[in-house]
Amino acid sequence: MSRRFARGATSLALALAVLVVTALAQPALAADDATAPRYTDGATTFQANCVVCHGRYGVGQPSLAPPLTDYPARYIANAEGRRQLAMTVLYGMFGDITVQQKHYNFRMPQFAQLSDDALAAVLNYVAFDLAHASADTAALSAADIAAVRSQPVGADAVRVHRSALLTDLGLAN
Ligand code: HEC
Repeated sequence: MSRRFARGATSLALALAVLVVTALAQPALAADDATAPRYTDGATTFQANCVVCHGRYGVGQPSLAPPLTDYPARYIANAEGRRQLAMTVLYGMFGDITVQQKHYNFRMPQFAQLSDDALAAVLNYVAFDLAHASADTAALSAADIAAVRSQPVGADAVRVHRSALLTDLGLAN
């Protein structure tokens, strides 16, 4: 094999490699687009305030913070569940809770310092983007958050309300 041919073969191989990489990158980009969050403001608030405990995609951390990938979708489709979501971020929660048969007993801080808009957006991100609530379910509005903000309760009452809600939803607690 001549040196010149070898060089030609190398550049051909390189060109092919570039084509293959480009072709492979294409569907990956398309998949990323498909999973782009619907609630982008909520996603930003989540990254800044919630990821540290609940994990990047709300998967939770064993015995530390519960996953947010299932129950919030059930909550948002129920009137008391919608209040529960707002109460949890406005007043926090502590005490033993069960999520998908696993126990958690640590403190969820309150985020009352965030605006009604920011809290509605972060909860919509959790319920629709992370927990995949059905798209025909009504999103939470700033007014929904304001209504719960106007009736302050303690973090322990949030857990008691959750317990009644889970019974209504037929979930173990
Ligand atoms: C310091 C850690 C921490 C941070 C930060 C945090 N959480 Fe939590 N979260 C928890 C813990 C712990 C619980 C469970 C509390 C318990 O055991 O009573 C919880 C519970 C919840 C629940 C209730 C889940 C259920 O099944 O009822 C929701 C919803 C939630 N968090 C959303 C959020 C959102 C949204 C943010 C950001 C704005 C956030 N959390 C930030 C630790 C945290």
